[in-house]
Amino acid sequence: MARITASVYTSHVPAIGAALDLGKSQEPYWQPLFKGYEPSKQWMADNTPDVIFLVYNDHATAFSLEMIPTFAIGTAASFTPADEGWGPRPVPQVIGHPELAAHIAQSVIQDDFDLTIVNKMDVDHGLTVPMSLMFGQPGGPNPAWPCPVIPFAVNVVQYPVPSGKRCFMLGQAIRRAIESFDQPLKVQIWGTGGMSHQLQGPRAGLINQPFDNAFLDRLIADPAGQAAVPHIDYVREAGSEGIELVMWLIARGAMADVAGGPAPTVRHRFYHVPASNTAVGHLILENN
Ligand code: DHB
Ligand code: FE
Repeated sequence: MARITASVYTSHVPAIGAALDLGKSQEPYWQPLFKGYEPSKQWMADNTPDVIFLVYNDHATAFSLEMIPTFAIGTAASFTPADEGWGPRPVPQVIGHPELAAHIAQSVIQDDFDLTIVNKMDVDHGLTVPMSLMFGQPGGPNPAWPCPVIPFAVNVVQYPVPSGKRCFMLGQAIRRAIESFDQPLKVQIWGTGGMSHQLQGPRAGLINQPFDNAFLDRLIADPAGQAAVPHIDYVREAGSEGIELVMWLIARGAMADVAGGPAPTVRHRFYHVPASNTAVGHLILENN
């Protein structure tokens, strides 16, 4: 049986990818940010899973206003890093896990969540920046990411977006799906995006540190309570792009304590302002 060993939460700011790709990570602006992920890279090296189920959002890259799936599961054998206007990031192809992805699609759809099945999709900074933060830049003659990834794209760009409550319930269905897969795989689930930021309009540049830290506290200790917060509160308090945080509730909903198991251990917690226009938050929770 497959099981979820841990969940990882992190922001996905595109400028972080550019800083890494252009060799700027030790510059004074970026150094404190990357220092916060040093323990995470060590933890990943010690706890590399067999598969990552990576919840992220596409930023009008693979999808557009022509087609807007609320929840889309990537079932392909591989996914190419997207060209977001400056050429694709120099990072490896993302290798998928079609067998587990198809099983999760079957289980979660029969568990009453309507997923869009995606057999071809490029992946943007929403997915590749968290990979870079947690694994560093793969190098050498045969660079590759250390494990397969199932991309799971959530619409948090075009209204209407899914509620935190639905995301939290979906996470619970994803846990049931993973635990009913008949292979002994260690799976991590990642929730990405956020924290507070607004990229447009009169409030562009908004950061709300008290909101972000309260979100981190509550995500750890009272995720069901956090899941009840309506989307308008995120937009008011954390800015228009702060709504990306609902994706963290999918990963949190998949953890063991939500289904009556023991509370997770907080392996790492980090918060840093600013990175580009965004407050960066990061958590690692291990199932016990
Ligand atoms: C920024 C943050 C994002 O989450 C994003 O998708 C694009 C830009 C930023 O801080 O610049
Ligand atoms: Fe974003």
